Amino acid sequence: MKAVVHTEYGGPEVLRLVEVDRPAPRDAEVLVRVRACSLNASDWEGLRGTPAYARIGGLRRPRRHVLGSDVAGTVESVGARVTAVGPGDDVFADVLGRNGGLAELVVVPERALAPMPSGMTYVEAAAVPQAAAIALHGIRTKGRVRPGDRVLVNGAGGGAGTYAVQLAKLDGAEVTAVDNAEKLDLLRSLGADHVVDYRTHDYTAAGRTYDLVLDLAGHRSVRHSARAIAPGGRYLFVGGSLRSLLGVLLLGPLVGLRGRRRIRVLAVGLGVRQVTPLVELVLAGDVRTVVDRVYPLAEAPEALRRLGEGHALGKVVVEVDAAGAPPH
Ligand SMILES: NC(=O)c1ccc[n+]([C@@H]2O[C@H](COP(=O)([O-])OP(=O)(O)OC[C@H]3O[C@@H](n4cnc5c(N)ncnc54)[C@H](OP(=O)(O)O)[C@@H]3O)[C@@H](O)[C@H]2O)c1
Repeated sequence: MKAVVHTEYGGPEVLRLVEVDRPAPRDAEVLVRVRACSLNASDWEGLRGTPAYARIGGLRRPRRHVLGSDVAGTVESVGARVTAVGPGDDVFADVLGRNGGLAELVVVPERALAPMPSGMTYVEAAAVPQAAAIALHGIRTKGRVRPGDRVLVNGAGGGAGTYAVQLAKLDGAEVTAVDNAEKLDLLRSLGADHVVDYRTHDYTAAGRTYDLVLDLAGHRSVRHSARAIAPGGRYLFVGGSLRSLLGVLLLGPLVGLRGRRRIRVLAVGLGVRQVTPLVELVLAGDVRTVVDRVYPLAEAPEALRRLGEGHALGKVVVEVDAAGAPPH
């Protein structure tokens, strides 16, 4: 089968489209013919090997050679113990931590997939898994957002952020969306009440505070981030630099003592079965999946470049095998 592989860390130029052996599913695994695969920041991090946590399990060379953790496609064959799906079924899945969907076929553990929502194209379904899981955990867990809360989403123009902005608005929050200038019109169109260009303004230095900051691109010290949290408010670090991650982990609870602020790392349990509430909102037309561009498999390096170099408005999707796919 064809796959886009990388055997060293680097830019998109280290990716190669090659023929590799067809993978075989084990007992509790499913072989999926990939129709579409969406890219996440974690794919860019896995390609570059930075931040350092992207090298867990592969310090010098990548452990996973095929990127692309969010996939939608058709079951090709199943292992002996698989009961939930069979050949021909359309499924979507999150395979983070394993070889991914920038390939014609991918092996998925049965527990990591679910039937594809009817009414979605492969491209739309592939855009959902990781972004939806992050947004739901960040905004909806434990009724985090109450009407009238001030919510700031840092890194709002990407996959998780575009969902998070819309969920916070649905929950009645006053939403501030932070990203680069190219993305601010999109964020306004998704309902953001205020927008901030991170390249020219530092939201932590503006003297405003928020009940919830969802930080999808954390690069500040914990003390700086704390300046933007209202007393009793919450800061959730989702992704960003290793230094910021460690700062939040080690110092967050201490720094937060003043003003009863909760400053934590949000560990998102990934998996498509938990994203049903967001899928329902998308199918009802209450939340929009923002797809930036769709590329063919051979142009996966360009797709990753677009994501990594800061031009993607929402999700970048790679269409792997368009044969038989409904139009997107
Ligand atoms: N905690 C967990 O369990 C978990 C699980 C999976 C993923 N993650 C993390 O979740 C994060 C979000 O993922 P995603 O797929 O939504 O990412 P994404 O689609 O790449 O979006 C990230 C957005 O942040 C923007 N950005 C970059 N630097 C920024 C800065 N300094 N200030 C404000 N915005 C900035 C990017 O804009 P540009 O285009 O300008 O770069 C982009 O629009 C990633 O860091 C990923 O590693 C966490």
